Amino acid sequence: MILSKRHRIQFPSVDTTKLDQDEAYFFLVNDHQSDERRRIRFHDYAAIYSEPGLYEQLFYERLKCDSPRKVTDALHYTAEHERDNLAEMRVLDLGAGNGIMGEELKKHGVARLVGVDIVDEARDAAFRDRPHIYDDYLICDFTNLSTAEHEELVNWGFNALTCVAALGFGDIPVPAFLQGVNLLQTDGWLAFNIKETFLERSDTSGFSRLIRELIFSEYISLHHVERYVHRYSIEGKPLFYFAVICRKEKDIPADFCDHLG
Ligand SMILES: C[S@@+](CC[C@H](N)C(=O)[O-])C[C@H]1O[C@@H](n2cnc3c(N)ncnc32)[C@H](O)[C@@H]1O
Repeated sequence: MILSKRHRIQFPSVDTTKLDQDEAYFFLVNDHQSDERRRIRFHDYAAIYSEPGLYEQLFYERLKCDSPRKVTDALHYTAEHERDNLAEMRVLDLGAGNGIMGEELKKHGVARLVGVDIVDEARDAAFRDRPHIYDDYLICDFTNLSTAEHEELVNWGFNALTCVAALGFGDIPVPAFLQGVNLLQTDGWLAFNIKETFLERSDTSGFSRLIRELIFSEYISLHHVERYVHRYSIEGKPLFYFAVICRKEKDIPADFCDHLG
């Protein structure tokens, strides 16, 4: 990554334990001389990516996020176990952000790497901070791809899909993830992470039910699940996630989501 300036990040004085993960916020002190500051939500990615190095300083340094390395390593050794090789993979990185996952994948020398995100600022930040990572980077909505976008993506012949720190919490919805799976060739790899509560039966939200339904469906086969600390909360509590590695068996029908309502 291209080195950038250090930011003054302040966490709120109040106890934020009761806030949902996507409601958490911090203050960014604008100027080192005055104490003027801006309140920014953790999920205001456009604002965060616009400040070089802020995403890394907040999530990776201060809150110790480790997911890109964890999920890449899990994909690497699961594939290796099946005599497959990351270096031969043509990867679609969904919810690519400013390219941290792409950077991890690139360490293994993947054959092709295409990023996708929904906000322009993500692509701008990836090209600004990690200009040599992606072969292409598309801004589009996977729940509503145009024919031209779909054709362009099919032409890459993807045999791996990664989606890190981007599923749930108002980020990538299940139908968009299913579209990603359907862009994969049969036997292609899926590597993603998910908050542990999404796999618990007590979580009956539509999102959790769909994800559980998908993981144990005939459309994909489960190869590896690992519980680990994704990052810490503002209050210092570990947030546990699962790293999940699967293989695609067949295309998922368009009505997959319908029967769960
Ligand atoms: C927490 S960031 C993760 C970025 C990167 N994967 C990483 O591990 O650092 C989540 C990303 O998902 C993107 N995102 C949210 N909803 C999306 C959608 N419907 N389609 C594509 N990307 C989406 C956000 O814009 C954001 O860049």
